[in-house]
Parts: sequence; structure tokens; C-alpha cells
Amino acid sequence: MLNEQELVDKLFHVYGIVRPNKDIALITLDKDLEAKPGQFIMLTIPQVGQKPFSIAQTNPLQIAVKSVGPFTESVYNLKPGEDVLVRGPIGNGFPVDDFSKDVYLLGGGMGVASLRFLADSLYDSSKNVSTFLGAGTQNEILFRRDFKRVGEVHVSTDDGSEGYHGTVVDLLRSQDLTPKSSVAICGPERMMVATIELLRNLGFNTDQIYLSLERRVKCGMGLCGNCEIGGYLVCQDGPVFSYSFILENMPDFGKYHRDATGKRVQI
Ligand SMILES: Cc1cc2nc3c(=O)[nH]c(=O)nc-3n(C[C@H](O)[C@H](O)[C@H](O)COP(=O)(O)OP(=O)(O)OC[C@H]3O[C@@H](n4cnc5c(N)ncnc54)[C@H](O)[C@@H]3O)c2cc1C
Ligand code: FES
Repeated sequence: MLNEQELVDKLFHVYGIVRPNKDIALITLDKDLEAKPGQFIMLTIPQVGQKPFSIAQTNPLQIAVKSVGPFTESVYNLKPGEDVLVRGPIGNGFPVDDFSKDVYLLGGGMGVASLRFLADSLYDSSKNVSTFLGAGTQNEILFRRDFKRVGEVHVSTDDGSEGYHGTVVDLLRSQDLTPKSSVAICGPERMMVATIELLRNLGFNTDQIYLSLERRVKCGMGLCGNCEIGGYLVCQDGPVFSYSFILENMPDFGKYHRDATGKRVQI
């Protein structure tokens, strides 16, 4: 059932913007938002539109955005003081209380935003946290310092400008991993598929692998069905699912998603 936060847009103002490179912006808003790591918001820019973004930090609310199209370009170009509307938090979040003693955070691209909030929430816990971050190039690696606060950080870049030269999956392959760990994965679905294959070969428990799925979330309140996968709605039942659940219920995972018109297309 929807709660009020999932239905009502609240007025926030842009407080600060950092642009670490030519298409990524960290947008800090002027108020806090109570949320669980893994949840997301629907951000509206009046007269422009509305899209989903992971919560990177709650006090004050911060999101990290990559400009890939018209709306994210407008977000990238926001200025301090401008009005935006925030609906949320939305979705389920990571089941942090069920995590094992050892936790791996695996992030590719903008998926690291959600993991940053998760890392914050593990700061005071007794968990051993290791983070693996993959990016195209050095200046796309976000939140390094925040992840370092909770444990060791390993980095890979496609161009070799920092850390391991290759994908985050190749980086993982080069490590001595502990299969009894919990794993939280956020990033492109192809990266998730390759990572899971590796983890399963190493004997990781599929119940302890948690994925934050990205589908085209349009309404973010269970109405349009555009985020459907295997009869479940990413915006209401997710975005976080255990891999054992995905394996049993979502044959489209890694294969198909829905485009802007709702048509099922190959990934
Ligand atoms: C739960 C959730 C959390 C998200 N968190 C973040 C975040 O923290 N930071 C961030 O930068 N982006 C995030 N996104 C993705 C972001 O919402 C899209 O990039 C944005 O909607 C693109 O809008 P646009 O108008 O700029 O580009 P569009 O023109 O709509 O899209 C540009 C390109 O991106 C593809 N695309 C758009 N949306 C998706 C999607 N959901 N999944 C896969 N491909 C897509 C399109 O096919 C197209 O090729 C998240 C998406 C979801 C569902
Ligand atoms: S985005 Fe509309 S039902 Fe999920």
C-alpha cells in the first residue's frame, strides 16, 4: 500500500552543486529526508518533468546525476536556490539487518549513489565492509572518501586512469573473496549478470546477493506498470531484490526491459 510520502511532492531548494566532470553533478538540497538505504525519490523540475534518482545521502538530501538525456541535463544545469519537488522515499531498500558479518558493496556507474547511503548506514555497525567501484575513467569515481570511512575500497577504470585497468568484474576476479559474505550490487544490468556468474561460481549464497534493479520508472507509484518485471513492480516491490528471488520470479532479468513506450525490448 502506498504511504503519503510516495504520493505527495514536497518543495525543496537546491542548496549546492558539485560537478566532478562534464556530465556528472552532485546535487545537495536544503532539507533532510528520512529514508532507508536503497530507496529512491522522484525528482520534479517544474515545467520540465519528473524522473527517479537514488538517495545518496539523507541529511541533507543529496543525489548524484549523470546527464544522459533531456531531463538529467536539466538536473545537471540546476543552480543554487532553484525550486525542485521531491516525492519519496519510495521502494523497499536493502535489508541491512539480514546482512552477514562481511559485506561487499559493488558499484558500477551511477549505481554508487545508492551504495554511498548504504555505506553510511553501515558506519557504526560491526560489519567488515569492502567496496568495489567501477567507472569509465578516474574522474567518474564518486564518493571514494565516504566508502573509505567504512572499509577498504578497490577501484577499476575502463581506461586504466586509476586502480585496476578493466571492468569491476575483472577486478573482482583478481581478489580473494569470502563466499559467506553479503553482497549489494548497483549498476548496469550487464555488469550485474557478469558479477553474479562469478559470485555463483565462487559459491556465494544467492539469498545474500542483493541487486538494486533499474527499470524505466515513470509514475513511481504503481500505476503505469512500466517498471514491471516478472509480475513485480520495481517502484513498489523493489528496487532491491535478492538474487534468489530474481532467479525464481524474473526470467527477463539480464535479457529484457521496457522502453519509454512500455514495449519489452532486449537489453
Ligand atoms: C530506481 C532508479 C534509481 C535511479 N537512480 C539514478 C541516480 O542516482 N543517478 C542517475 O544519474 N540516474 C539514476 N537513474 C536513472 C535516471 O532516472 C535516468 O537516467 C533518467 O530517467 C534519464 O532521463 P533523461 O530524460 O535524462 O534521459 P532519457 O532520454 O529518458 O534516457 C537517456 C538514455 O538512458 C536510458 N534510460 C533511461 N532511463 C533508464 C532506466 N531506468 N534504465 C535503463 N536505461 C534507462 C534510455 O534508454 C536512453 O538510452 C535511476 C533510475 C531508477 C529507475
Ligand atoms: S513506474 Fe509506474 S508502476 Fe512502477
